[in-house]
Amino acid sequence: MPKASKVLDRVLVLEMVRVTEAAAIAASRLVGRGDEKAADHAAVEAMRAAFDELYIDGTVVIGEGERDEAPMLYIGEKVGGAPGKGPRIDIALDPLEGTTITAKAGPNALAVLAAAEEGCLLNAPDVYMEKLAIGPGYPEDLVSLSKTPTENIEALAAAKGVKPNEIIACVLDRPRHAELIEELRGLGCGIQLIPDGDVAGVIAVTDPDTTIDIYMGSGGAPEGVLAAAALRCVGGQFNGRLLFRNEDERSRARKWGIEDLDRIYKLRDLAKGDCIFAATGVTDGSLLSGVKRLKGGKMTTESVVMRASSGTVRWVRGEHRGS
Ligand code: FBP
Repeated sequence: MPKASKVLDRVLVLEMVRVTEAAAIAASRLVGRGDEKAADHAAVEAMRAAFDELYIDGTVVIGEGERDEAPMLYIGEKVGGAPGKGPRIDIALDPLEGTTITAKAGPNALAVLAAAEEGCLLNAPDVYMEKLAIGPGYPEDLVSLSKTPTENIEALAAAKGVKPNEIIACVLDRPRHAELIEELRGLGCGIQLIPDGDVAGVIAVTDPDTTIDIYMGSGGAPEGVLAAAALRCVGGQFNGRLLFRNEDERSRARKWGIEDLDRIYKLRDLAKGDCIFAATGVTDGSLLSGVKRLKGGKMTTESVVMRASSGTVRWVRGEHRGS
């Protein structure tokens, strides 16, 4: 178990929920409205404003993009109401994880962030990452990106004491996963294909109620760091390997200090030391219920906040006056 960070004050754990709640509520007004950009923008603005209420000297290390690409919550942006005075905290964030889901009113859109001491979260470039995750309770390195999907399924099935065709995998529904899906179907595995939202997809392996045993396939690298922070708190294993489609993406990675471009990252390589993970549901999903609007303008939110050093997981149901 990692040592509790003195910088990550206990109070901050609950404060982080205010930030994800604010982003989720703002995005929820645009659920099903077919406008991904507007939903994302609303979440970004609300999250940015909520950070300023916190007594922290925060730096965004994973955000909406690089400074010239994003007007707000860009990588390197300072956030928090106590610059130069408050605790120095690095933040990985995705104010709206699942912009398309939100626009189409699909499942599993989240407002999400991870916070850690300065230097503890990988500055992942905005490229794809190959991901592999299983829940807690298995021998270390049971599965690995250095093995084939078949070898990983067979190892997991043997450890679980079941046949490979009883394993359920979660995979993003993308043409690039056709070969992986064919290989898994060849083994008879069940596959839960998700339209978007692999932060929730990865976390699903830690919850027996989802019946998902393993997460496989590629998605955004920033989302990989966020999911890894969550698994640091609740347990489970994760492998991530950056995928580069061209020289521009490789040079982005080098710019962030990444030298070994083929490295397989494990949980502590992505989020080390103590860390906090917080998420609020925007739409209903496997992890959280979405924002609900009740009569009289009241709203309810459901959030989860976890801390690596204590392993405490808090489910927070919020009731908010309408605005
Ligand atoms: P956005 O919120 O940026 O739309 O990301 C949604 C998402 O599904 C992520 O969960 C996932 O990591 C990534 O997109 C996958 O990227 P792609 O849609 O290009 O396959």
